[in-house]
Amino acid sequence: MSAEYKAPSEVKDLTIYNTIELEDLAKEVMPKGGFDYLAGGSGEEFTLKRNVQCFKSQGILPRVLADVEFPETETEIFGQKLKVPFIMAPIAAHETKEAGTAKGISEFGGTIMSISAYSGATFEEIDEGLQGNPRWFQIYMAKDDELNINILNEAKADGASAIILTADATISGNRDRDDKNEFVYPFGMPIVSRYLTGTGENMSLNNIYGQSKQKITPRDVEFIKKHTDLPVFVKGLQTAEDANVAIGAGADGVWVSTHGGRQLDEAPGSFECLAEVADAVAGRVPIVFDSGVRRGEHIFKALAQGADLVALGRPVLFGLALGGWKGVRSVFEYFETDLKRVMQLAGTQNIDQVKAARLKALDNWN
Ligand code: LAC
Repeated sequence: MSAEYKAPSEVKDLTIYNTIELEDLAKEVMPKGGFDYLAGGSGEEFTLKRNVQCFKSQGILPRVLADVEFPETETEIFGQKLKVPFIMAPIAAHETKEAGTAKGISEFGGTIMSISAYSGATFEEIDEGLQGNPRWFQIYMAKDDELNINILNEAKADGASAIILTADATISGNRDRDDKNEFVYPFGMPIVSRYLTGTGENMSLNNIYGQSKQKITPRDVEFIKKHTDLPVFVKGLQTAEDANVAIGAGADGVWVSTHGGRQLDEAPGSFECLAEVADAVAGRVPIVFDSGVRRGEHIFKALAQGADLVALGRPVLFGLALGGWKGVRSVFEYFETDLKRVMQLAGTQNIDQVKAARLKALDNWN
């Protein structure tokens, strides 16, 4: 596929009415294989859809007479000040574009880029776009510990201020769309190619996942901490039990996610698992939340339900396809504007007030 894969290349600001329509627009400019890979999920795509729908299980209870104007979205994590309570989820993009995500994020400023170990670009290429902006590194563990140490050392040298351990992707979900399209990656993966039989280019996801480590355990959390001395997130959990295991192993943060509905299908939506995890965590470590976030209301609800930060995935990559780095910036700006509008209407002046806002469980929402 790589020979004929033509990633869209227009660089322009986007007028975004909502990010749902952004997906439809991106479909028109992206090659089918790439679009299906990004937009698709596993199995019947139950969890993929449920991730978005289940935000409707809770309503935002607005407060009025609230003395609110110009809501403030600043927050911080591990001492790092952020302009907004949302960051970039780790997603690899086409090699000509990976640095585009980074540049869009650095031009927006005040947020964090999560760099995927499956990135199509090197740390240096990403840094050209990121220009010193904060970054976290998401690792897919190799079976070989020496290689893991090398990768972690490189990420640390590149300036990663946290490591995200991918815990929910020990093999690939059942990706019908990719199988039908015979989708293979159109780019090599310089960070993990040292543990692949090829570079990543022209390889299927099944093949790549299969060569990463399957037996992920609490010892992997300990291993990463020992070798990096950086905060470690366990990404991809949906239960109180796993949050407790992760924290017991020394995790400095938990990341509630269904991997965008791409892994275990017929799992509940990510948002409907958040309250349980937040109860179990009880403020011991920060919680990052992703999967299904398409609107400011979704960010608001996730924070009110116990998340400290929300990670954005597909909408940003659709923005990248439609407008290059400027499209990425447009998507971040859209979410900032939308979140501020929701905060104003809900009567919340700042992120602490959003976190303290009350949601109301709704009947018959689905
Ligand atoms: C995916 C991997 C790469 O979801 O995380 O496709």
